[in-house]
Amino acid sequence: MSPILEVEDLYKRFPISGSRRYVQAINGVTFSVGAGETLGLVGESGSGKTTVGRCIVGLTELSAGRIRFKGEDISKPRARWPRHLLGKIQLVFQEPGESLDPRMRIGRSIEEPLLALKVPPSERRALVAEAIERVGLSREMLELYPAELSAGQQQRVAIARAMITSPELVVLDEPTSALDPTARAEIIALLMKIQAELGTAYLFISHDLSTVRFISHRVAVVYLGMIVEQGDVGEVFAAPRHPYSAGLLSAVLLPHPHFSLESSIRLEGEIPSPINLPQGCFLASRCPLAIARCRQEMPPPDNLGGGHMVHCFRHRDVASMDHASDTFAEFQREAERILAGQKTAGPVCNLGGTSNG
Ligand SMILES: Nc1ncnc2c1ncn2[C@@H]1O[C@H](COP(=O)(O)OP(=O)(O)OP(=O)(O)O)[C@@H](O)[C@H]1O
Ligand code: SF4
Ligand SMILES: [Mg+2]
Repeated sequence: MSPILEVEDLYKRFPISGSRRYVQAINGVTFSVGAGETLGLVGESGSGKTTVGRCIVGLTELSAGRIRFKGEDISKPRARWPRHLLGKIQLVFQEPGESLDPRMRIGRSIEEPLLALKVPPSERRALVAEAIERVGLSREMLELYPAELSAGQQQRVAIARAMITSPELVVLDEPTSALDPTARAEIIALLMKIQAELGTAYLFISHDLSTVRFISHRVAVVYLGMIVEQGDVGEVFAAPRHPYSAGLLSAVLLPHPHFSLESSIRLEGEIPSPINLPQGCFLASRCPLAIARCRQEMPPPDNLGGGHMVHCFRHRDVASMDHASDTFAEFQREAERILAGQKTAGPVCNLGGTSNG
C-alpha cells in the first residue's frame, strides 16, 4: 500500500504557563498510513495519542517535524491548508457531543462540512440522504436533535458528518469507548463496512486492544510520546518485541474464564512526568528487563523486517519470554469467530470489556 499519510519525526511541546518548562507530549514520532489501511494507535492515558491525531488534522500546531498527505506538506494549521485538501482528512471524537451541536438538527449537522466546500444546495440534500443511510439510520432522523438519539446513533451521525466530504483519511479518536459493548461492536462493523466500500484509511486511536486488533492492519504502540513498537497487528499482538507492548497485552482483562494469562512481563511503577523526561529509555524505571545501559542511552529503532520496528536493547530476550500474547491471540481468534457468526446472523458483535488504562 502506498502511504497517503507520512508523519516524520513529530515533536509537540506544550508551554506551561508561568514557567519556562514544557510538557514534552510528543517526542519524535514517525509512521505512515497506506491508502485504505487502518493503523491502530495504542498506549496508556497521557501517552500522546490524541495530540498526534490533532496534529494530523491541523488542530494542534507541531513543535517540529513534518506531516505529508499524498506528498503535500500539511504541517501547518488546518486554516492554511491548500483548498483542495479541505474535507480530505476528517476527525471523529470519542464523545459524539464534541462533533454535534445539541441545538442543531441532525440533517444540518451532517450537511455542515459541505458548506465550507461550497457544495450547491441541491447536491447537499442528496449527499446528506446518502450519508445517513450509509451509517444505517433512516432519513426521518434528519429532523431530530442529538438528544433524541442514543449514544450509538449519535456516533453514527458523527461518522456520517465526517464521511460526507469523501475523506481519504479519518482520524478516529476513541470512537467507541463511550459506548456500551453492543453499540461499540456495531460501530466497529460499520467502520469496516465503510472502509470496504469507499477505501477510506483510518488512524484508529484506542485503549481497547481487542478492538484495535480486530479493526487494524497495523499497530503503533505509543509510550511517553514515542512509538516504541510498530508493525503488522497480528505479528505485534502475537509476538510483541517491546516490554511495553508485552506489558500492555498482559494487562488486558480477558472476559472469558476459559482464558488466563501467565505473563512474564509486568510493568511496575509510575509513568515518568512528560515535563521531566528521564535520560535513556523512557521505560527504564518500569521495565523488568532494564540494564545499566538503558538508563544512559535511548535505544535506537531496530528494523525487524516486514515493517516491524522496535526501540529496545533487549527485544530478542522479549521474543523468548512473553507468553501472555499467545493467550491473547487465542482469545482474539475466539472473538473473531464469535463476530463472524454474528455478522451473518445480525449486526452485533461483543468483543467484551477488554480495556486497559
Ligand atoms: N493543550 C494542552 N496543554 C498542555 N498539555 C497538554 C495539552 N494537551 C495534551 N497535553 C499533555 O500532553 C500529554 C499527551 O496528552 P494526550 O491527550 O495526547 O494523551 P492521550 O494518549 O490521548 O491520553 P488519553 O488516553 O487519556 O486520551 C499529556 O501529558 C497531556 O497532559
Ligand atoms: S531498552 Fe531497556 S529499559 Fe527500555 S524497554 Fe528495552 S530493556 Fe526495557
Ligand atoms: Mg486521548
